[in-house]
Amino acid sequence: MTKKIIIAIDGHSSCGKSTMAKQLAKEIGYVYVDTGAMYRAVTLYAMQKGLYPDSGIKEAELKAAIDAGKIQIGFKFNPETGRPDTYLNGQKVENEIRQMDVSNRVSPIAALPFVRALLTEQQQAMGREKGIVMDGRDIGTAVFPQAELKVFVTATAKVRAQRRYDELMGKAQTQEEKDALNFEEILKNVEERDYIDSHREVAPLRKADDALVLDNSELTREEQSAWLLERYKKIVG
Ligand code: DC
Repeated sequence: MTKKIIIAIDGHSSCGKSTMAKQLAKEIGYVYVDTGAMYRAVTLYAMQKGLYPDSGIKEAELKAAIDAGKIQIGFKFNPETGRPDTYLNGQKVENEIRQMDVSNRVSPIAALPFVRALLTEQQQAMGREKGIVMDGRDIGTAVFPQAELKVFVTATAKVRAQRRYDELMGKAQTQEEKDALNFEEILKNVEERDYIDSHREVAPLRKADDALVLDNSELTREEQSAWLLERYKKIVG
């Protein structure tokens, strides 16, 4: 039997990490975990419970909710889409967590040490049996520093904003939703998140020393998937 490994895919937001990570997991029969979805689910919880007003996060109350085990995040494979859906306390929240209001608020939530401690622990438990492809910002540096394959993915902010814009446009159901999309706003969000993610105190986004770098600004999905599969094969022999 081929040996099972841990594959850590880190990088900037909207750089196509999750597409390539998902594709690889499917191809090699591994479990795929989108850790960004977990930070988004905590953000959604805070918003729903009024713990994230415009004046800022109510940290003590959010911490109390976490300590009391009130935030349960899980994934369930969706055979229709072929991808896992994110669940928050038993409710499917896959669409809600991808909306701009969550995107605009998630980085400050992801900078809170007690939120990172909770999610890091859950992520480590998910990888105990190996055979996992996990994507995020700190997988190769903080969650699984011992991962056998680490990839750091990036692309220019403009390319990433365009991809995000196209994705949201594809998902928009009504003309109103389409009209509400604004490329400049999305670009600003991408740049702001880059800044906060790279400058926070706990587990900032950075390339692990032993990670392979992939700049996919000029690559097609197929090219990047082939690149990743090749790296995996080299390791498992
Ligand atoms: O990958 P994404 O855009 O869905 O991630 C959402 C946010 O969560 C992003 O601002 C960075 C943060 N994040 C993180 O801090 N650590 C991770 N392992 C994954 C995501």
